[in-house]
Amino acid sequence: MALQRTLSIVKPDATEAGHAGAIVARLQQEGFAVKALRQLHLTKEQAEGFYDVHRARSFFGELVEFMSRGPIVVIALEREDAIAKYRDVIGATDPAKAAEGTIRKLYGTNVGENAVHGSDAVETAGHEIAYFFAGLDVRPSA
Ligand code: RTP
Ligand code: MG
Repeated sequence: MALQRTLSIVKPDATEAGHAGAIVARLQQEGFAVKALRQLHLTKEQAEGFYDVHRARSFFGELVEFMSRGPIVVIALEREDAIAKYRDVIGATDPAKAAEGTIRKLYGTNVGENAVHGSDAVETAGHEIAYFFAGLDVRPSA
């Protein structure tokens, strides 16, 4: 298995509720190394840019409102098989369908407000990490 990077976002629901620290600690326990981390509050335009792939979806407006309503914590993570392993740890998109003990089951509210984001492929992770972190913030992968 290859060393991979993935982008995690603690979404506004979980950041507002004070769960960012517990989520970072859980990810480190699961073997993810934190390569870069910052808290920021997206504008609507920045949230639209990040979720551009979902622009045609019915929930796009709701998603942009949600993601720009409060601070988020953005984390570039690295681990063996990071993309798949991270998605195992966060669980299904809908917290009601997520497995027991997963981050979305523990901290998510509903299919929209589901506590965390995760990249869906290595290439997407590269673009998503570059969306939030400058080259000086996160070292190139080995
Ligand atoms: P993410 O990209 O945030 O890691 O989530 P995901 O891959 O599990 O789900 P995706 O299909 O990429 O959807 C992106 C985010 O849009 C919101 N959503 N709302 N109301 C709805 O039916 C609905 N469906 C998706 C969620 O915040 C989801 O994480
Ligand atoms: Mg997705």
